[in-house]
Amino acid sequence: MNQDTSSQAEAADQKGGGDLFNTAAGWVLFAAGLGLGLSILSGKYFHGDKPERPEKLGYVIEGAVEESAGPAEMSMAEALNKMPAAELIAAGEKAFSKCQSCHTIDQGGANGVGPNLYGTMGKAVASHPGFAYSAELKALGGTWDWEKMNLWLKNPKAYVAGTKMSFAGLSKIEDRAAIAMYLNSKGSNLPVPSFAADAAAGGEAAAVEGEAEATAAAEAGTDPAAASQ
Ligand code: HEC
Repeated sequence: MNQDTSSQAEAADQKGGGDLFNTAAGWVLFAAGLGLGLSILSGKYFHGDKPERPEKLGYVIEGAVEESAGPAEMSMAEALNKMPAAELIAAGEKAFSKCQSCHTIDQGGANGVGPNLYGTMGKAVASHPGFAYSAELKALGGTWDWEKMNLWLKNPKAYVAGTKMSFAGLSKIEDRAAIAMYLNSKGSNLPVPSFAADAAAGGEAAAVEGEAEATAAAEAGTDPAAASQ
């Protein structure tokens, strides 16, 4: 008897559950239909949204690419004049830590994996005595000027395919300018290309800027440069 009652109750439960499920499923279906209908409608009314979005995203990506890849980058002349010479040399000395595993810089320093770099700026390319340069670097010819050094330090293997210098390069013009300036202070003395002359600002503004930079250089000479040594 007991068993019967319970199985009847179970059957009733199941039936009730089934009804409930059907009702719930019906509502879900209805809601889905409503949602679909609304989305079709809104798609008709707000269709303009869709083409706009990818366009905007596209602009953002283009902007980022431009920033890192060229047109937005300042010239070597501008980077060399961006801060007082003493500060730039100090920054270059710090950045030179990336080169020290392969290069010495002091006069008479030994050649290592790479040649000693004393007096390199203004000197003939691949001419340091006692170093076995690659044929590719020797073939570059000319002397190390600001622009050559800029291109070399940016990506040695792109500038001189086949070079022995296994160094990825410095992507920031500021770093390349700082290192070139530091190299120039070690046994070389190439004149720094002027940038103010090319700038749109009038001569007077440039002169005032120059004075301000000279003052800053004098101040920097006592503080950060000393701290870095
Ligand atoms: C992994 C070792 C390595 C590192 C790191 C390295 N170099 Fe070199 N460098 C070389 C070698 C090797 C050569 C010779 C390349 C050749 O003959 O093709 C060279 C050549 C050069 C030359 C040409 C010298 C001449 O006499 O013509 C310059 C300038 C130079 N390196 C600067 C740098 C600077 C600046 C850095 C740091 C930002 C640097 N290198 C980092 C290995 C290195």
